[in-house]
Amino acid sequence: MKSLFLSLVVVSVLFMNSFSDVQGKKWKGEGTTKNLESIVIGRCYNYIRIVNPAVGEKNCSEIWEAFKNAFINKDPCSILPKDYELVINLSLHTIPPNKSLFWENNQLLVKSFADRGRRYMSLSDTLFGFFGDFLNWCGQANSAGLDYESCPTMEECENNAVDSFWRMASITYAQHSSGVIHVLLNGSAVGGAYPAPGFFADYEIPNLQKDKISKIVIWVVDDIEGPDIESCGTHTVKILENRLKTLGYDVTCTDNYKSVMFLLCLDYPDDSKCTLSSSVFSVDGSPLPDGPLTDMGTVWSVVVSLLRACIC
Ligand SMILES: *[C@@H]1O[C@H](CO)[C@@H](O)[C@H](O)[C@H]1NC(C)=O
Ligand SMILES: *[C@@H]1O[C@H](CO)[C@@H](O)[C@H](O)[C@H]1NC(C)=O
Ligand SMILES: *[C@@H]1O[C@H](CO)[C@@H](O)[C@H](O)[C@H]1NC(C)=O
Ligand SMILES: *[C@@H]1O[C@H](CO)[C@@H](O)[C@H](O)[C@H]1NC(C)=O
Repeated sequence: MKSLFLSLVVVSVLFMNSFSDVQGKKWKGEGTTKNLESIVIGRCYNYIRIVNPAVGEKNCSEIWEAFKNAFINKDPCSILPKDYELVINLSLHTIPPNKSLFWENNQLLVKSFADRGRRYMSLSDTLFGFFGDFLNWCGQANSAGLDYESCPTMEECENNAVDSFWRMASITYAQHSSGVIHVLLNGSAVGGAYPAPGFFADYEIPNLQKDKISKIVIWVVDDIEGPDIESCGTHTVKILENRLKTLGYDVTCTDNYKSVMFLLCLDYPDDSKCTLSSSVFSVDGSPLPDGPLTDMGTVWSVVVSLLRACIC
């Protein structure tokens, strides 16, 4: 009888504990990504063996240890960018000249455009950006464990484990960028194409090495069915152009850069912005009617001119 009573007490205490864990999340943000260690180590080896073997040999377990030591056993609101210095030192590699791609407000577009470093090498296509991509993590004071329940948001504290990591990664990425630098901005972004504060404004521009940079190319691309809020030479893009020119950079800006538009058009093939202009098909140099290739007559004239080009 007594032991039954005791086990009931134990069970209810256990139950209350797990109940209060759910209720008592310390922070408002999502907790550490489950299987963080396996993901980080796996991504690291995936990167050095498959994605970009040019970086050479790295010890991914050592990188994981350095990464973890940056934030475990610490108040999750007192993590500084420099706490990640060793991780960065261990994972640093060359960023090829002319390949850097900075961005704001269009992360997924940049991912497909950069194509894992094949076309451009954005921060998330470097080893240190690659293993942290889309992950969440934080520790807790006086415990070596990770907090899987919740982590502080940027609003709760600026010096949280994730934001400090990305600050350090952004600073390093900017310092190692060279040649022609590209910046892809969202002309339909509600908060402005060039947000300040922002990672590009606050951590990347101040860390560019002027003597290694020949030119800065800005692309402002609107969503296919989105509003045209900003363009080159207006609003926040103008602020950015002026800031970079004042710093002494050679700056160019292009609206709706064609290569990026083609990529966006994959999802909107019938939108009028996505119609290939007939000049694309003018194989033999003869002018073809402008406008969409919708009626059969236009299609036929294109076929005829293609055939003519082949016969000659
Ligand atoms: C990689 O680092 C781990 C942890 O620091 C260490 O135990 C291991 O010996 C290292 N491996 C190599 C091949 O250097
Ligand atoms: C990282 O590398 C830099 C430059 O080589 C060096 O000055 C710094 O002490 C290193 N930091 C750590 C924590 O290893
Ligand atoms: C980078 O681009 C510039 C200008 O287009 C070109 O002159 C230079 O050769 C390029 N560098 C590399 C390494 O491709
Ligand atoms: C551009 O910004 C808008 C509004 O913030 C957003 O809905 C859209 O997804 C962004 N476009 C891209 C390509 O990410």
